Amino acid sequence: MKDQWNDVDRYLKDTVVGPDEALEQAIGATTEAGMPAIEVTAAQGKLLMLLARIRGARKVLEIGTLGGFSTIWLARGMDDDGRVISCEYEPRHAEVAQRNLERAGVSAKVDIRVGAALDTLDGLKDEAPFDLFFIDADKANNPKYLEWAVKLSRPGSVIVLDNVVRGGSVRDGAVAEGTGASGGTVEDEDIRGTREALELLGSHPNLDSTAIQTVGAKGWDGFALAVVV
Ligand SMILES: C[S@@+](CC[C@H](N)C(=O)[O-])C[C@H]1O[C@@H](n2cnc3c(N)ncnc32)[C@H](O)[C@@H]1O
Repeated sequence: MKDQWNDVDRYLKDTVVGPDEALEQAIGATTEAGMPAIEVTAAQGKLLMLLARIRGARKVLEIGTLGGFSTIWLARGMDDDGRVISCEYEPRHAEVAQRNLERAGVSAKVDIRVGAALDTLDGLKDEAPFDLFFIDADKANNPKYLEWAVKLSRPGSVIVLDNVVRGGSVRDGAVAEGTGASGGTVEDEDIRGTREALELLGSHPNLDSTAIQTVGAKGWDGFALAVVV
């Protein structure tokens, strides 16, 4: 089954998203640096770019940079005066991402903030409101990241929360083998964080939300999408 998901993902990437040297190089450099292959797929990255464009986003906040793959897509969805702040805990990931952003020609639009995202978020009040949020870091903190996103938003801001299905484990705690975002094992804390975040998305008075399951090159997973009301 996973082979078919992969084949279809490749077909959609080749047919709809199209080839992209800068992004292929970013993936290559990330792999070479020994970092995990847990970036969004090209089709998902393009969705982020389209959301930024549809929203007319001028300020984007990303939590979880890794090698900057999703960051490049987000930056491409904005005009030249747009700005992405991307929070990353690992200095080495931030260095690789910075080089990838430079190669992709979007580094002028992106500011990587190194450190624990919860500390960084606490210092971003003066730079709010943000028009679009992409939350894709340590899943245990997802409820806190979501609360921060609401605090740093305005009505009409869009929030995307990644990896909310996790091979089905979000429902029953068990991971279907080889279908999780990281190929199988998922920490209990990640599941708890994701479930609490989904409950918040469904009950928060200032959020109108949905969640979508996906299959593809990264297995069986999904994302949640919300608008701040
Ligand atoms: C799934 S990866 C991000 C993938 C990236 N968004 C993409 O699609 O290209 C998660 C990243 O979050 C970072 N991270 C984990 N915990 C963090 C924290 N507390 N604060 C900031 N970043 C964190 C990890 O080091 C990792 O680089």
